[in-house]
Amino acid sequence: MSQPLPRRLSWAYALTVTLLAVSGTMQMPIASRYRITAVPGLAWLGDFWFTHKLHYLGAIALLTLVFYLGARWVLEWRRNHALTFFGLARAGILTLLILTGAMRVLKNLPGVSFSPRPIMLVDWAHLALAALLGLLALLRLSLRASSVRASALPGKAPPR
Ligand code: HEM
Repeated sequence: MSQPLPRRLSWAYALTVTLLAVSGTMQMPIASRYRITAVPGLAWLGDFWFTHKLHYLGAIALLTLVFYLGARWVLEWRRNHALTFFGLARAGILTLLILTGAMRVLKNLPGVSFSPRPIMLVDWAHLALAALLGLLALLRLSLRASSVRASALPGKAPPR
């Protein structure tokens, strides 16, 4: 069965996650240390507050997309389209990324403080989940590429 997700929403998701991955990585901060800022056109990556605000903008866009797609799936698509393994894994990782991200937002508020150990665990979990989301996307792409190559072999049917 064809997937229900409109192409423009797939693009919006890919762009949002790319924005979050780039702006999130720059929060560590690595741009100046590894001289990324010396690359023509990339000096802005060394501006911590700018990339910080970009990460918050990306988070707002991601939340909007996740609520919209979640609502459409529950109300319409669920009946005819079961979630695949990758869809389920992505939904789980995104949920945890949003929860850990929300805790980091709370921690950044003036007057809010947590004890160091739990907040360190939240920070590591957010980073590890971001890496896991990237690995999952790579795995999905490589499986897709190998099934397309296999279908090009003589006598093999194309993937459905
Ligand atoms: C695909 C989704 C996301 C990715 C790939 C991502 C990635 C990252 C990365 C790599 C970091 C730096 C980790 C570190 O400093 O150890 C980070 C930090 C952070 N993220 Fe995310 N993130 C995502 C979603 C979110 C969401 C949805 C929120 C908010 C609800 C959020 C809020 C934050 C905050 C507040 C920080 C810390 C910024 C600071 O240093 O104060 N992130 N993110």
